[in-house]
Amino acid sequence: MVAKLFYALSILRRRGLSFFFIYFRESVWFDLRHRTRTSARVPKQDQDLVEAGTDAADGLLYVASFTTVTRQSVALAEQILGSARFRQAQFLDLGCGKGKALLVYALNYARMVQHPPVGIEYDSDLADLAKANVRACGFQPNEVQVAADSATNIREYTAGDLSIIYLYNSFQGETLGHVLNALRDHPHLLIYVDPAEAQRLAHFGYEILERRKGRYNADTWLVARSETLRTEPGDAG
Ligand SMILES: C[S@@+](CC[C@H](N)C(=O)[O-])C[C@H]1O[C@@H](n2cnc3c(N)ncnc32)[C@H](O)[C@@H]1O
Repeated sequence: MVAKLFYALSILRRRGLSFFFIYFRESVWFDLRHRTRTSARVPKQDQDLVEAGTDAADGLLYVASFTTVTRQSVALAEQILGSARFRQAQFLDLGCGKGKALLVYALNYARMVQHPPVGIEYDSDLADLAKANVRACGFQPNEVQVAADSATNIREYTAGDLSIIYLYNSFQGETLGHVLNALRDHPHLLIYVDPAEAQRLAHFGYEILERRKGRYNADTWLVARSETLRTEPGDAG
């Protein structure tokens, strides 16, 4: 409780009062509307990552995506792919935490797309919370899937031949390298929020199609196309 108060005060000093209004609109409001529990951050020292091995060193804390960041980035993915291919693409959130981005996607698209969206989260407590949030939104576990696993096992979860990979700066360093390598032969669009290691994307063959610079890390994002994803005539990008 005291730690939370100190954190709130440090945010107030660094980001100003307006951040609290933005946080309410972009995070708390989603939970109030959907009776979910996604908005509270979970610092890394509060995570139980005993079985996560080396991934734990590269993993970042849990913070929920801003609602409009997920909406806008996914809408851009739809525009880039065209609606027919977008419906064939599987959405995967790497490091889904309590399921915020997964649910923003699912509430908008899950019932019209070919593959159920999947969230992968290596903290099993957070994965359980994500599953509870999926139920709170009225989805069955097979309609919106949550796996308690490391994102390095991503290829065990990809379905079909096209994906939209959502990554909110969940991990960096070696783990990011493993994941991008594992995805190298799989056609996908990458939505990278708070893209701390964007400079590495070219090495893995990505072409950055769009960059959005927000006011904070949380609303700064990019969309990149994998080397294996070819857009068709008429598609944007
Ligand atoms: C910034 S949060 C993103 C939450 C969610 N994607 C969203 O946008 O609302 C990062 C999450 O990634 C998880 N994470 C970190 N490393 C991971 C790994 N190697 N595999 C799976 N999850 C990981 C953390 O536990 C944390 O919940």
